[in-house]
Amino acid sequence: MERVDIPVTQPYEVMIGRGLINDSEVLLKPFIEGRKVLIVTEENVEGHGYLKNLKDNLNKISDQITFLCLPPGEAQKSILMVERIISYLAELHFSRDDVLIALGGGVIGDLVGFTASIYLRGIDYIQIPTTFLAAIDSSVGGKTAVDIAQGKNLVGAFHHPVAVLCDINTFETLPTSVFEDGCSELIKYAMIMNEPLLQYLVDREEPLNAKSLDLVEIVKECVIMKKNIVIEDEFDQGLRQLLNFGHTLGHALEQSSKYHISHGRGVALGMLVFTKMAVSQTYITEDFPLIFKKLLDEYHLLGEKPHYTAEQLIKVMQSDKKRRSDQMTIVLPSEFGHCELKVVDIKTFQNWFEKEWDSYEIHKRN
Ligand code: GLY
Repeated sequence: MERVDIPVTQPYEVMIGRGLINDSEVLLKPFIEGRKVLIVTEENVEGHGYLKNLKDNLNKISDQITFLCLPPGEAQKSILMVERIISYLAELHFSRDDVLIALGGGVIGDLVGFTASIYLRGIDYIQIPTTFLAAIDSSVGGKTAVDIAQGKNLVGAFHHPVAVLCDINTFETLPTSVFEDGCSELIKYAMIMNEPLLQYLVDREEPLNAKSLDLVEIVKECVIMKKNIVIEDEFDQGLRQLLNFGHTLGHALEQSSKYHISHGRGVALGMLVFTKMAVSQTYITEDFPLIFKKLLDEYHLLGEKPHYTAEQLIKVMQSDKKRRSDQMTIVLPSEFGHCELKVVDIKTFQNWFEKEWDSYEIHKRN
């Protein structure tokens, strides 16, 4: 098993390995013993037996384990659901000494993290990510949130988990498209700050899959990158915004499509459009988006061009958190495996984006 420590205000550890849920009795004992525990999960995760496995293990160290199993999907990330969980915790007399567990992907992690951040002004929670995407990004770093009609993640808090247990075997039961969504975030890490990783992904003979032998190492490398960013900028005032590469447009596409466009696909298209923008602004050369598009295609991350107009998308992007008064911070590639933050005024951004979106075509896969 690999361990990565995250030395933030309240330090914690990310444990990464295969079959870790089988060992959760031992690995989570320090956080569970003698406490009430509510596991929040979703139906797909339960269907694959991970909830039962976790409960059976934790029952050996606490006789106060309960669970809530939600339907899958972004719709669960709502204030209404937070209220439901909070009422349940109150009915069960959960105190500040008790603990929540998020067993699932990014939706469950964000929802449980946010609920833990506000119940009794904050209780402990543990992240057990079961998707590649949640493992390498959303389960680490303490960002928690729910969506409202006006935008994704517009209500949230910084609240770090007390531990992250990442069992790589759970990725094997993911639908391929969900695993590929995680690859979009992996490619994002490589693009923003890791040229060797980007080159490695470009050079691979076979695309990565859930059984790839190097997956533990890759998750660890991403968690270390995230750690390095988060310890520099825990509260998202500067450097951490690099992690939003592709997300400004990605979130707008997710939201406009009522979440039919997945996070990974939205981010992939967002990264490609902003990479083309970087060419137009002469930050990078023209061959760059071609290599990048080929990589995204290998993971089936690009589909038909969504039918929204530039104007519609700009409107949604302007309600995003990355905006400040009349300026926006955007993330653009400046080298192969390196991105930079650019502060641009809204008008300039609108012009840049309109030009890029109107001329954007998704060509057939090579
Ligand atoms: N998911 C982006 C961040 O944690 O900052």
